[in-house]
Amino acid sequence: MSDYAKGLEGIIAAETEMSFIDGQKGVLEYVGIPIGELGKNSTFEETVFLLWNQRLPKASELEAFTKDLRSRYEIPGALAERIKALPTTAQPMHVLRTLISELALYDNDPNANDPDSARDKSLNVLAKAPALVAYFDRHRRGLDFVKPDASLGFAENFLNMLNGEKPTETMARAFDICMILHTDHGLNNSTFTARVIISTLSDVYSALTGAVGSLRGPLHGGANEGVMHMLNEIPDLDAVEPFIMGKIERKDKIMGFGHRVYKAKDPRAFALQGLAKQLATDTGNQDLFNKSMKIEEVMTRELGAKGIYPNVDFYSATTYHCIGLKLDLFTPMFAMSRLGGWSGHVIEQLSNNRLFRPTAKYVGPHDAPYVAIGDR
Ligand code: ACO
Repeated sequence: MSDYAKGLEGIIAAETEMSFIDGQKGVLEYVGIPIGELGKNSTFEETVFLLWNQRLPKASELEAFTKDLRSRYEIPGALAERIKALPTTAQPMHVLRTLISELALYDNDPNANDPDSARDKSLNVLAKAPALVAYFDRHRRGLDFVKPDASLGFAENFLNMLNGEKPTETMARAFDICMILHTDHGLNNSTFTARVIISTLSDVYSALTGAVGSLRGPLHGGANEGVMHMLNEIPDLDAVEPFIMGKIERKDKIMGFGHRVYKAKDPRAFALQGLAKQLATDTGNQDLFNKSMKIEEVMTRELGAKGIYPNVDFYSATTYHCIGLKLDLFTPMFAMSRLGGWSGHVIEQLSNNRLFRPTAKYVGPHDAPYVAIGDR
C-alpha cells in the first residue's frame, strides 16, 4: 500500500494531453500553448476545439465546429417552461446543476459513451448551458426570455440572452477571454469529480452534473463570489491593511489567494488583472481595482514567502463585476467555461478508462464487541 496523502496532494491519478501546469514557475499551457498566448489570440470556441482534439483547428474545421455549437444553443421547450416554474429564490449554481442533469431526460440515448456520442452530448451541454443560466436569471427578474442568436459567438450570445442587448465589442471580448482562461486546469477537484464519475461508465450528464456540484464549493470555484463579498466589506483603500491583517491574525482564509498547485502567482491571475484594470477604468470601478491591488500587496508581503499568491478567482471577481454580472452568477460563469474542460476530460477518460477506486486507510478499532441495543 502506498503512503497516505491527505487531499491526494502530489498523487498522479490520471494522464492528460490537455493542460500542463508548473506550479513553482507559474506556468499553464493548453496542449503546449501558454495560456497568455491563447488569451491574446484565441476564442473560447477555438480553445475548446484545441482541448478536445489536442491541436488547433484549420479555418474550415473551426467554422464547422462553431456552426454545430451555435445550432444547439436553444434548450428544449419543455425545459424552458420548467425554468419558469422554478423558485425565484433558488441559487443559480443549484439551478445549473439541476438543469444539466435534466438535459439527460431530453436525450433518447443518454447513456451512450462511445467517442462520437460522448462528444455529441458534451457539445450539447456546452451549447445549452448559457441559456440555462440566462433564462433562469431573467425568470427571477420577472423578464421574458431572450432566445439564443445563432449568429453570435458563445460569449456574445450569453450576454445578449442575459441583458436583452448586444454587449459592446470590448465587453464581449473581455468575457470571451475570461471563458478561455477558465476552460481547463489539470486534475482540479471538479475535473477529478467528472473523471471519477465517468470511470464507472456512467454517463456524460452525470459526470458534468457532479462537476458543477464540486465547483460550487468556496474552496474551489465558489471563491470568486467570496472575493467580491470581501471587496464589498472593505469600505475604502485605507481599510484594506487592517482588514487583511485582522484576517491573517485570526487565521481566516483570504478568498482568491493560495492554490494547491501554484506556489507562484497563478498565470491566469496576470491576464485577469490586466482585464480587470482596463474594465475598471472603462466602467468607473477604479476603487474596486485599487482595493484589489492593495490586498495583493499586503498578502504578498505577509504570506508570499509561504507561496500564497492570487489565484484565478481573485481578479475574475472584479472583471465579472465590471462586465455587469450579478454576484451569484460569477461561479456559474466559471462552470459555463469549465464545461469545455470537464467534457474534454470525460472524453479522454473514456478513451482509456480504468475505474477509479482508491483505498482508505482504516483508523478505527478492530474486534469490537456487538453490544445489544438495550445495553448501550
Ligand atoms: N489565506 C490565508 N492563508 C492561507 C490561504 C489563504 N487564502 N490559503 C492557504 N493558506 C495557508 C493555510 O492557512 C495553511 O497555513 P498553515 O500551514 O499555517 O496551517 C497553509 O497556507 C496551507 O493551506 P492549505 O489550506 O492546507 O492548502 P491547500 O493546498 O489544502 O489549499 C486552497 C488550497 C484550498 C485553494 C487554499 O489556498 C484556500 O482555501 N484558498 C482560499 C479559497 C480560494 O481562493 N479557492 C480558489 C482556488 S482556485 C480554484 O479552485 C479555481
